[in-house]
Amino acid sequence: MAVIGTDIQLVKTLLERDNIVAIPTETVYGLAGNAFSPAGVATIFQVKNRPAFDPLIVHSDSLQKIKDFVSHFPEKASALAARFWPGPLTLLLPRNRHIPDLVTSGLDTVAVRIPNHPLTLQLLNILDFPLAAPSANPFGYISPTRAEHVENQLGNQIPYILDGGPSQVGIESTIIGFEGEKAIIYRLGGISIEDIEKIIGPVQVMPHSSSNPQAPGMLKSHYAPRKPVYIENISPLLQKYPADKIGVLAFQQAVDGIPHANQIILSQNGDFSEAAQHLFAGLRQLDTLPIDIIYAELLPEKDLGRAVNDRIKRAAAK
Ligand code: TXA
Ligand code: MG
Repeated sequence: MAVIGTDIQLVKTLLERDNIVAIPTETVYGLAGNAFSPAGVATIFQVKNRPAFDPLIVHSDSLQKIKDFVSHFPEKASALAARFWPGPLTLLLPRNRHIPDLVTSGLDTVAVRIPNHPLTLQLLNILDFPLAAPSANPFGYISPTRAEHVENQLGNQIPYILDGGPSQVGIESTIIGFEGEKAIIYRLGGISIEDIEKIIGPVQVMPHSSSNPQAPGMLKSHYAPRKPVYIENISPLLQKYPADKIGVLAFQQAVDGIPHANQIILSQNGDFSEAAQHLFAGLRQLDTLPIDIIYAELLPEKDLGRAVNDRIKRAAAK
């Protein structure tokens, strides 16, 4: 069992000794280690059971510190950082030698972000190094948005979970890379395409792939609960399964014909941010019910709806 608390001085000491700890962010909880220490980073991969070809995001509290370990900051990246940091945006930038190969899986870019969470910003402020942190879930499972989610799955493998309450954004950061001055979105997330395009103009969105070494984070099947997830049409499911064996992740209102106790409603007001905030906790809760399958409704394909749909579709991917 991990200790759950808010003692950032203790967390600092643990990290300095190459332990890894869970940290809260506004997107999801991260599993953090010293990004400059190959030993700390190796433990992250081990605890998460994550393949070494899938690189990590490096978290810092200041642009100045980030400029110490990236070799170039494209103009569009600067504009995005100025507008959205601290916040749910990750930039892929050329790295320099301070960052160990293990962090980037040998790629010549490093993923960086300033997270917007007061406790984690305080922690990053008192550390002499940035934090490499993937989401704090076993590889392939749903990301954690509360300290207890981390405790349930990784609590016996880490000494401490820094408790920052429920994550306010609820889905991971948007990842953007650059080819010359062209911007490419590698993962939809907490900042919408629409908001990004307001700052830097049109961007390209990288399609998913189940085997794309260029963008390891784009693995198609991901964020999956243990129960099978179905999308698009509930009628064939109702013919195949008893109604009380179907769980529903609904957007605004309960689906007819399924017991209400089996249904999670993401946002009664149809608010995309609220839906994103509740998405992963909702899937986790459905995963614990005595049901056989989960039917998930998609949101309208715009703004944060796109990122929520991306997670639902990946949860449904075989
Ligand atoms: O919101 C978030 O981004 C959370 C919080 C903890 O910050 N972190 C997170 O980390 O979602 P993770 O490891 O679960 O997802 C990071 C993704 C991975 O899919 C990885 O493949 C991709 O970022 N990534 C990291 N570095 C990369 C790089 N240099 N090039 C391409 N993709 C990269
Ligand atoms: Mg993850």
